[in-house]
Amino acid sequence: MEKKVTVVGAGNVGATAAQRLAEKQLCDVVLVDIAEGLPQGKALDLAEAAPIEKHDVYLAGTNDYAETAGSDIVIITAGIPRKPGMSRDDLLKTNSDIMKTVVGNVAEKSPDAILIIVSNPLDAMCHVAYEASGFEKNRVIGMAGVLDSARFRTFIARELNVSVENTHAFVLGGHGDTMVPLPRFSTVAGIPITELLSGDRIEALVDRTRKGGAEIVSLLKTGSAFYAPASAAVEMAESILKDKKKILPCAAYLEGEYGIDGLFIGVPVKLGKSGIEEIVEITLAEEEATALQQSADAVRSLVDAMARLE
Ligand code: NAI
Ligand code: 2OP
Repeated sequence: MEKKVTVVGAGNVGATAAQRLAEKQLCDVVLVDIAEGLPQGKALDLAEAAPIEKHDVYLAGTNDYAETAGSDIVIITAGIPRKPGMSRDDLLKTNSDIMKTVVGNVAEKSPDAILIIVSNPLDAMCHVAYEASGFEKNRVIGMAGVLDSARFRTFIARELNVSVENTHAFVLGGHGDTMVPLPRFSTVAGIPITELLSGDRIEALVDRTRKGGAEIVSLLKTGSAFYAPASAAVEMAESILKDKKKILPCAAYLEGEYGIDGLFIGVPVKLGKSGIEEIVEITLAEEEATALQQSADAVRSLVDAMARLE
């Protein structure tokens, strides 16, 4: 294949992302993990599915970074997943150390790559990756909004008994309890859901979206969501690899946009071959802007806490 994507972390999200990348025939895939045999085994298993799935994607698994050299995109899922009763913030120190090590290796072997960060706590991990890589801000992108809005879309579709394909939803802010789903910009066949649902029902769907990650954690009991997160990361990768210029909600480094400076947070961005090609600024109502600001404050306190841990 012309394009190459490395997925670091061959666990639930990483392996599922590798499967989706291969089955969509987007690129060759290198899976990396510290666990010996795990990336090799999963990559071989996925490769052995290729004759049945009918693709010729080359898949490799490895414990070092030599084979990752020259990757176009690196999706980073390495880390410890959230466990029941554990907040995303508890993961801060462990995952920050892992992220630094991984990004150091990735940047050395693939200096021109675009990074898609998945590991939690997401917005804080984007900061770590940005600093550890030294990459321009358009090449460090966090996955959260695509997942959170997919959850919102699912709940809207089920509530109204319509196809998920008719639903569009916007979720801004940090990937946490302060995320900001925007009902005004969430539509069914172009009709804002504020025209279709009562305020109470919208609030219930918004609340379920905010708690979407925790809902899956409490059901699975071990580990966290991975099918939808992998789909979300691969939608972002596809838009970059094919230069589709999709507008998707992603964590981006803001320098004044939305009145926020020096912080990664979820906003609508255009994703193309250069990574983030534009940050789309929409005019927010007063309460939406306040909610986004509160979410930014929560992310900033996490980033500050991380700095204190060092
Ligand atoms: P998992 O435990 O199944 O996989 C994580 C993998 O990372 C493991 O195989 C582990 O061996 C590997 N790993 C640990 N340290 C490493 C290192 N230094 N180098 C390479 N690999 C290393 O976890 P899962 O479910 O795949 O989740 C991965 C991460 O993604 C977690 O931090 C989770 O919280 C986060 N996540 C974020 C989402 C988002 O919306 N941003 C959604 C879902 C998960
Ligand atoms: C999620 O939202 C755990 O952040 C992860 O599912």
